[in-house]
Amino acid sequence: MPRHLLRDDDLSPADQTAILDLADALKADRYAQRPLAGPRPIAVMFDKSSTRTRISFEVGISQLGGQPLIVDAQASQLGRGETIADTARVLSRYVDAIVWRTGDQSRIDEMAAAATVPVVNALTDQFHPCQVLADLQTIRERFGRLAGLTLTYLGDGANNMAHSLLLGGATAGMHVRVCAPEGFTPDEEVLRAAKDRAADTGGGVELIADPHAAVDGVDVIVTDTWVSMGQEADGLDRAAPFRPLQVNAELLARADPAAIVLHCLPAHRGDEITDEVLDGPQSAAWDEAENRLHAQKALLTWLLSR
Ligand code: CP
Ligand code: NVA
Repeated sequence: MPRHLLRDDDLSPADQTAILDLADALKADRYAQRPLAGPRPIAVMFDKSSTRTRISFEVGISQLGGQPLIVDAQASQLGRGETIADTARVLSRYVDAIVWRTGDQSRIDEMAAAATVPVVNALTDQFHPCQVLADLQTIRERFGRLAGLTLTYLGDGANNMAHSLLLGGATAGMHVRVCAPEGFTPDEEVLRAAKDRAADTGGGVELIADPHAAVDGVDVIVTDTWVSMGQEADGLDRAAPFRPLQVNAELLARADPAAIVLHCLPAHRGDEITDEVLDGPQSAAWDEAENRLHAQKALLTWLLSR
């Protein structure tokens, strides 16, 4: 059975550390290791827009000596109703791994259930585990450790980034706080899974409604768009409830003076984050974006060497 990365808690704490260690090694010399030389083909499929994920997977697979096949999934037969399971069976005969950005998590679960090669979640409505590996790499390079640090996510607590930070952060032994408006709090199953994981790793999980209390003395502040892909026309009023959660200089001043700020990007400047913070000295968002490349190369190397 191949290993997959469908959600962050598919990785044990030891798996996560092994991948992050490899990511650091690959970052030190991005052309040194070519474990996919052959070149081994990997399909990278998109049902939704992407800049970072698309380019970093394409570049990363090439640097590993592999052959990236970037597929607009909606222009494939999937878009005309071929089943996910049949697609998985066929792709498994051609490629060594399937990376997919799609909508509901049930779609990627279905792909993994029928695939005989590793399947990687490149973002679903519920999780964004590749992003959070890059986030953890970025935090670890700034602080030298993950366990024991406190991270606060402010924004849509029910979106992919909130869920992945809960699971990935708890796996790393971090204390993860989520500050979200009423009606936008995390999925109960994800919260329970994150709490269980945190109980094993010495981390913690907390929901804190007041943004000032949520960032008090923390090491890492993370935010994300208030409107995720696919939610543009859902008719929910986000501006009013989310405005008090904006990451601005006044909010940042309440965190630890050495705190860093992460944003997976793309940013909606002036909404969830101000220019001053995103472009300021405590922003690690550009390193975070770069680390997508290294973390995903490490993930693919790790998955394909098993
Ligand atoms: N952060 C992220 O996943 O960016 P893209 O949507 O550009 O891939
Ligand atoms: N939550 C955002 C992340 C984008 C990388 C979205 O799903 O649109």
